[in-house]
Amino acid sequence: MPKKPTEASLRRIEKAARLAASRTYSPYSKFPVGAAVIGGSGRVYSGCNVENASYGLCNCAERTAIFTAVAAGESSVSAVAIYTPTSLPTAPCGACRQVINEFGPEALVISVCDTKNRIETTLSALLPGAFGPGDLA
Ligand code: THU
Repeated sequence: MPKKPTEASLRRIEKAARLAASRTYSPYSKFPVGAAVIGGSGRVYSGCNVENASYGLCNCAERTAIFTAVAAGESSVSAVAIYTPTSLPTAPCGACRQVINEFGPEALVISVCDTKNRIETTLSALLPGAFGPGDLA
């Protein structure tokens, strides 16, 4: 089970998510999203949404960040931060909740935006009764 994230590491992923949004490729939705995660090693990984002319292939920022962490050798995440340049914070979509569950069923999920509004919750609150690896055992 991953360690509980420190306040300092949570501030780091918030900052990384804000920076990641600047790398968005979202010419179709024009809705930039940045995300960052703390991997089991304590390292931080970030990602942005990457869209495609074939709309169904768009990848959310959260999944980009988690896939980047896994590709770097991580097998768990303890926290996910999401930034959108909006006045209200954006919660992760259903597909991203399912992907977060795979690697961080107890992860903290923090959404920040351009105002003081924020969401601080957990994956288990966002996806109660999740289907996960244990169901295949
Ligand atoms: N998007 C994310 O990156 N994360 C979410 O959790 C919700 C949606 C992206 C996908 C698409 O590029 C754009 O936001 C509009 O849906």
